[in-house]
Amino acid sequence: MKLTKEEQEMLDGKYGDSVQKAMELLVAVGECYDAEELIPVASAHLSGANPISAGTGGKRLIMEMAETGRFAVPTTTNPTSLDPWAWREMGFSEALYREHAALFEAFGKMGGFLCNTCIPYLIGHAPRMREHVAWCESSAVIYANAVLGSRTNREGGPTGLAAGITGRTPAYGYHLDEKRHGNLKMIVRTELKGDTDYATLGYFVGTIAQDRVPIFTGIPHSVSRDELKCLGAALATSGSVAHYHVVGVTPEAPTEEAASGYKKISSSDTFEFNSKDLEETEESITKIEPEKVDLVVLGCPHASIDQIKNYAGAFSGKKVKNKVETWILTSNIVKKYAENVGYAKILESTGVRLVSNTCPSIMPRDFFKSRGYSALATDSSKMAYYASAVQNVLCYYGSLEKFIDAVTTEVR
Ligand code: F3S
Repeated sequence: MKLTKEEQEMLDGKYGDSVQKAMELLVAVGECYDAEELIPVASAHLSGANPISAGTGGKRLIMEMAETGRFAVPTTTNPTSLDPWAWREMGFSEALYREHAALFEAFGKMGGFLCNTCIPYLIGHAPRMREHVAWCESSAVIYANAVLGSRTNREGGPTGLAAGITGRTPAYGYHLDEKRHGNLKMIVRTELKGDTDYATLGYFVGTIAQDRVPIFTGIPHSVSRDELKCLGAALATSGSVAHYHVVGVTPEAPTEEAASGYKKISSSDTFEFNSKDLEETEESITKIEPEKVDLVVLGCPHASIDQIKNYAGAFSGKKVKNKVETWILTSNIVKKYAENVGYAKILESTGVRLVSNTCPSIMPRDFFKSRGYSALATDSSKMAYYASAVQNVLCYYGSLEKFIDAVTTEVR
């Protein structure tokens, strides 16, 4: 791989052990993928910023890197394993909190912005069109590529960390024009009403697309930012999709031809999504009746202020049933916003908890069971997938309006 003089010096150790180790990793990955060079990145977003997914090896790597390494570009962090402000009352152990705090200190020492959210793009970390970045977190990666038009591969914790420290990433995959063209067409033939329908569409398409780049037609120009967020998160869950186009909506798809790089998509790569697919996909994810639910988890990906406003409207005038714990996951920054504009107060008065900076997919395995939760309702296909897989609970999946009566009572 061709390196600049400065990159070669990084690799030779002129800038310290951490930079050298980071560069060794990036060069090895680049050679694996036949990258011809490294390219500068404008920012990094890191997963593995929690004790559970980092594991023993990951924690050691982060601590070692923090000895001499400093982030060369703005670097944010993905959710951690507990709510740093409410861990005790939510039943997390002090030992886990201490592990989390040690990682926090290490990332802080390196100059990271410890936002611990999967929606960095909604709290000020939004790269520009065509800007190269190195992001982890599949839902954020696909949003960056598809909706913002910036360029990133699906980084893992170590390569994201190395990119943050060096300000470089190998030039392969979604950094290259030709890899960004759509190669599968999905014609949407049914009306989609809200975030959950988009999450269902994404789940359906992800299983077909796997790692390809879908081009959607039939999605109206009025599709919201949150609907695109939910679509992308689901595509990256049932498949490993990292980029998509919506013709007439996303920035690299002014036309179908432009989205495909002016290559014809064959009929065998063209699919349709209709109302029956919508219904059947939602049913296939649901494994339990909403009346059996003892935990509700909303806000996956972390809720935006608009979504919190909608949730506050939906819960207003109701009270969550005693036996049901209800969480809305979000970034602490969005939570503060919700507090300032009054949505948090409405939600808290109905028994809903705004949970900051964390996610059940990286809480200790079976944490739900240890707290006595056995059945979950969610409006996110990604949360349904991970809660079943990591927390071993049965899920009801559907829009909040479909199950809110099962988990609340009316307040007179
Ligand atoms: Fe975010 Fe967790 Fe969902 S990281 S996208 S809330 S599974």
